[in-house]
Amino acid sequence: MEEIDRKRIAALTEAQQELFRNRTGSSALTFERAVKVMPNGVPSSFQVNDPWPVYLERGRGSRVWDVDGNEYVDFHNGFGVMCIGHANPVVGAAVKARIDEGTHFAAPTDGSIAVAEELKRRFGLPQWRFTNSGTESTMDAVHIARGATGRDTILKIEGSYHGHHDSVMVSVYPPLEALGARDDPVSVPYGGGVPTAFTDLTRAVPFNDPDALESVLAKIGEQVAGLIMEPAMMNINIIPPEPGYLERVRELTSQYGVKLIFDEVKTGCTIAAGGATQLFDVLPDMITLAKASCGGYPGGSIGMSEELAAVVADGTVKQYGTFNGNPLVMAAAEAALTEVLTDDVYERFEGTNRRLLAGCQEIVDANGLPAYTQGLGAKGCVIFSPDRMYEYRDYLTKVDDELSSLAWLYHMNHGIFMTPGTEEEWTLSIAHSDEDLQRYLDAFETFASDVTRA
Ligand SMILES: Cc1ncc(COP(=O)(O)O)c(C=O)c1O
Repeated sequence: MEEIDRKRIAALTEAQQELFRNRTGSSALTFERAVKVMPNGVPSSFQVNDPWPVYLERGRGSRVWDVDGNEYVDFHNGFGVMCIGHANPVVGAAVKARIDEGTHFAAPTDGSIAVAEELKRRFGLPQWRFTNSGTESTMDAVHIARGATGRDTILKIEGSYHGHHDSVMVSVYPPLEALGARDDPVSVPYGGGVPTAFTDLTRAVPFNDPDALESVLAKIGEQVAGLIMEPAMMNINIIPPEPGYLERVRELTSQYGVKLIFDEVKTGCTIAAGGATQLFDVLPDMITLAKASCGGYPGGSIGMSEELAAVVADGTVKQYGTFNGNPLVMAAAEAALTEVLTDDVYERFEGTNRRLLAGCQEIVDANGLPAYTQGLGAKGCVIFSPDRMYEYRDYLTKVDDELSSLAWLYHMNHGIFMTPGTEEEWTLSIAHSDEDLQRYLDAFETFASDVTRA
């Protein structure tokens, strides 16, 4: 493995930043206008970028174009939403047809039944309710777990993100010095505005460690309403579950009467038709979905057991929302799930992803980069760590932020649209061609050889 020359990385970063600024002059001007009316010039803080965000104009298939006219192959795909490809004609036709029939009633329509039926088929949970985002899905799931058990404490995995409501804005990306003991992590609030009383009700446990979970449950199991977790972690690159881990989590949560919530906002409808639940064959009490499940429209859902559906049906838990099951969103979701992202498409994603991962791994090996590749279904990444990661503490201590950030700059400057930051992965769409993959590999090759050239 190559020793990374830090001075070289600093010089390359400066050069790529300069190139980025030169390529995105119109984004800079747009930013000047936007920042006068939106903090950081963006609608969501996840879109912040230094020195300015790249403002996009349009997308089609695997491509997006920014306000400077730069064309990119899109591997960001709207934070893992657009597996159907941009401006998908099938989903577009379904939505356009719905527009002519009325777009909102706040009364149930056939679309929500059809989508619930399809989600039941895919994920195996019998009952579904709709929301407008991943945040709402996990918020309602937490309410249902608390309402069904009469308990207040929520367990989550250290280093996982489940949206921006109070019960899960805890120990999301805590800094090293705040972590506390691994077998008894400190509950660290994620940003301001979250009352301490909420933070204290949420406890973190490390991923991939059933013994740590068991010892927490042995101490406080009777107070715990639910464990919310991504079955494969996807917000600190990708960390898959170790063999047997999810099965043991299922056993332990059942033993203590703790409701198991698989947050499949990222994994659902991207890594298999029935997400991680299908792929790893472990059935939770609830599943939360959003992102790729609604064909590029803002929607989400919660799948639940009959027992949990009863506490919603009898009004114990108030699961509400004016736009829940909105006909436009349901039309997009139904078309996306039943006509575009059909079961065979997931096999294609697997194959395409395998080729891209293998290409990246070859470049990593040939250049001696301290990195490895990881992928599931339509999702994959190069992780700039010399060793495999199993949990958040590995991510904090092993991932090379400088290399991750520089790789992002190389990609953007070479026509590959990627999410900023060190924690994301790529998402494939049905529109990605071999030529698109080659473009990714060419950009990555240029990065790897520039970084390691003697
Ligand atoms: C695992 C997970 N859960 C929940 C959310 C929140 O979803 P949303 O941004 O739609 O509120 C996200 C968003 O990235 C996520 O990755």
